[in-house]
Amino acid sequence: MFLCYIEKAWHSEIFARGLKRFMKTCHIQGKTGKSTILVGESLHQLEYHIRGRRAVIITDDHLMDLYRQDFPGHPVIVIGCGEAIKTLDTVNRIYQQLVKLEADRSTLIVGIGGGIVCDITGFVASTYMRGMPFGFVASTLLAQVDASVGGKNGVNFGGFKNMVGVFNQPEFVICDMNLLRTLSKPDLSCGFAEIVKHAIIADADLFAYLEEHWPEALALEPDVIEKLVYDSVVIKAGVVGRDETEKGERRILNFGHTIGHAIEKTTGIPHGEAVSIGMVAASRIAVQQGLLPARDADRINTLLTNLHLPTRITGHRNAILSAMRKDKKREGNTIHVVLPAGIGRAVIQPVSLTDVEMITQGLF
Ligand SMILES: NC(=O)c1ccc[n+]([C@@H]2O[C@H](COP(=O)([O-])OP(=O)(O)OC[C@H]3O[C@@H](n4cnc5c(N)ncnc54)[C@H](O)[C@@H]3O)[C@@H](O)[C@H]2O)c1
Ligand SMILES: [Zn+2]
Repeated sequence: MFLCYIEKAWHSEIFARGLKRFMKTCHIQGKTGKSTILVGESLHQLEYHIRGRRAVIITDDHLMDLYRQDFPGHPVIVIGCGEAIKTLDTVNRIYQQLVKLEADRSTLIVGIGGGIVCDITGFVASTYMRGMPFGFVASTLLAQVDASVGGKNGVNFGGFKNMVGVFNQPEFVICDMNLLRTLSKPDLSCGFAEIVKHAIIADADLFAYLEEHWPEALALEPDVIEKLVYDSVVIKAGVVGRDETEKGERRILNFGHTIGHAIEKTTGIPHGEAVSIGMVAASRIAVQQGLLPARDADRINTLLTNLHLPTRITGHRNAILSAMRKDKKREGNTIHVVLPAGIGRAVIQPVSLTDVEMITQGLF
């Protein structure tokens, strides 16, 4: 059974500071555990969620430099930064430190960081001593709206992304909007790409809201960014809830990702930027298939551009097409692509590679 219910709660800290604002909470009850996502909660309240237990914090060295003074007083294991450290070697080093710290199954592990820290923390906590409780303080926009929601944890292996992993829910996820202020502009835009994705596949109102409020979103205006994160979490939690272990519907979350992955792999541009171009490509295909009015494809283009995301890339066409031909999910001359059926709904359809080649001319 999977449940996602939503409440708005006064939070003690928010209350104590006299701020008249709500923290929004999303509860997820999945086969692989129960999770509470706290949107608008503060890193400073982490100790409250640790609830008197022994805890070990895992973070990366960048976050350690920026926010060490705000961490509660528990031992900290620091890992490096970047996709290259998301490996079993890093996991191995963390296990060794947990042994030294005499961590046991009752110790709470807390990952403070972006998607990389969250993915590694979830994997370590799920496997060390056959599993210990864990929580996240998601510090990037992408981690808040995507990586920390849904219970997927894992590491790269043998050059393949997320090849080794588990499904398991964190006990809690703190989404502290203040942390986003130190995030780099490209990392922020990558998070927005996933929010736009959620809006296109599931929520026309959210899309319209983004069209109206993108300047405040980019400026991280508190009410706006909090709404965007929250709505996004609810959409992802809902989709995952109906298909926790990725057998069907969850695949619509791959909107923009089939072509996006080929672009990312070939050009090395950041994930969110590649997904942005992938969404534009998929929208064009949807227009050609009569699923999406051309004016809605234009709206998607405009919104992505406003959020400082690219909608095309030059100079890599043959390599991108060849990467697509090597896609594991290809069947003969056909690939399955997630297509927007209007804004707010998505379908998965087989498309011939010949059509993809023709329709994407001028995009990459
Ligand atoms: N488990 C899932 O369902 C899922 C979903 C999507 C992505 N992911 C994974 O997430 C990872 C990408 O996550 P990401 O984009 O958050 O990357 P990341 O964790 O590498 O963070 C990006 C950079 O931002 C820095 N950073 C983090 N928080 C910061 C802050 N508040 N201020 C300043 N700098 C900060 C980090 O140190 C890092 O250098 C990938 O490995 C991907 O596979 C997992
Ligand atoms: Zn993505």
